[in-house]
Amino acid sequence: MTKRLLTSQLVPGLITAEDVFNLNNRLLIPKGTVLTDAIISTFSIHGVFNVLVRVPKKTAATPAPTEPEHIPTTHYERVRSTPEFKQFKKDYETGIQAYKDHLRKAVTSNTPLDVKSLYQSTVALLAETPLDSNMFDLLQNMRDNDDSTFAHSINVALICRVMAHWMNLSEAETELASTCGLLHDIGKLNLPQELINKPGKLTPAEFQTIKKHTVLGYQTLLHQNIDHDICEAALMHHERCDGSGYPLKIKGPEINFYAKMIAIADVYDAMTAARVYRGPLCPFKVIDVFSHEGLQKYDPDLIMTFLERVVNTYVSNACLLSNGQKGTIVFINKHDLAHPIVQIGTSCIDLSKFPGLEVVSLI
Ligand SMILES: [Fe+2]
Ligand SMILES: [Fe+2]
Repeated sequence: MTKRLLTSQLVPGLITAEDVFNLNNRLLIPKGTVLTDAIISTFSIHGVFNVLVRVPKKTAATPAPTEPEHIPTTHYERVRSTPEFKQFKKDYETGIQAYKDHLRKAVTSNTPLDVKSLYQSTVALLAETPLDSNMFDLLQNMRDNDDSTFAHSINVALICRVMAHWMNLSEAETELASTCGLLHDIGKLNLPQELINKPGKLTPAEFQTIKKHTVLGYQTLLHQNIDHDICEAALMHHERCDGSGYPLKIKGPEINFYAKMIAIADVYDAMTAARVYRGPLCPFKVIDVFSHEGLQKYDPDLIMTFLERVVNTYVSNACLLSNGQKGTIVFINKHDLAHPIVQIGTSCIDLSKFPGLEVVSLI
C-alpha cells in the first residue's frame, strides 16, 4: 500500500514509492530508496514537502505512520480571521473569474488583448491589498484556490506588484510589472491542459513541451499592441542570471528586468503552491530553498530586497524551533537571513551559530 506523507510525517525505514525531484525537476533520490534521517532532513531545503511512500501493513511490530501532526498555525489562523483577509478572498475570487473571462474572450473571439482593462479587472481590483509583506500572509492563506495557471498568474502579478513597490519603481512601472506577471505564462494556454495540470513528475519529453510555453507566449503577445516588456517577460521568465535557464540560456544583463522579477515571484509561488498537502510554508524555509538553488541565479538587488523584506516582516513574531523550544524572533542576520536571532525566556540564541537549529514554523 502506498500513501503520500508530509515531510514531517516521514520516518526512517520507509521506502519511497516514486522518484523524488527538487524544484528544478532534478532527481534527488530514486524510487525504492529506504529513507534515513539524513535523507529526510534534506527534503525541506530542496522544496520537497510530501513524498509517496510504501506504508507497511499495520501490525503490532510495525506501527503505521501517525496521522498528520498538528502544525501550529496560530499566526495564520489569526490572519484568516481578519476582515482584511475576508475582503481579499472575495476580491481574489472575482479577480480570477474576470481574468479567465477576459483571456477566454480574447482567445475564442480573437479580439485584441486589452491589457489596461485586464489589469483593472484583476490586479487593480486587489489594489486595497497592502503593498507590503502582509500580502504574502494573505496569499498563503488562500488554501482553497487551485493551482491553475490562472490563480498562479494572479499570484505572480501580486507578488511583482509588491516587489516593484519595494524597488521604488514608479506607478507606471509597477502597473507594467503586475501586467507582465499576469501574462507571463499565457503560452501555457496553447499547450494540452492535461499536461499543464498533470500531478506528479513530468517525463523529460513532457518537460521539453512545457518549456515551449515561453516562446509560445512571446509569439502570442508579439501580435498584440502592447508594451514589448510584456512580450519579453513571457519569453525570458525562466532564464537565470548564470545562464542556466531556458529557452535562450542568456545571462543577467541580457535578461529583461521584469522577467528577472517574475523569476523570483514564480519560484516563490511554486514553493507555496499545493498548500493542501502541508501547513503554511515557514518564510525562513523560503530563504533556504532559494539559497540552495543558488542566489547567483537571480538578480542580486531583486533577490536580496525580496528575501530581506519577506523575513523582516516576521521580527517580533513568536516561532517554534526545530528542538521544540518556543521563542520570539528579535533580529534578522543580514549575512544569514534564514537563521535569525531568537529570544527564549531571558536569553537570545543566534541561530546562525547553531547549525541544524532552525525556525520550523511561526506560531
Ligand atoms: Fe512559466
Ligand atoms: Fe509561472
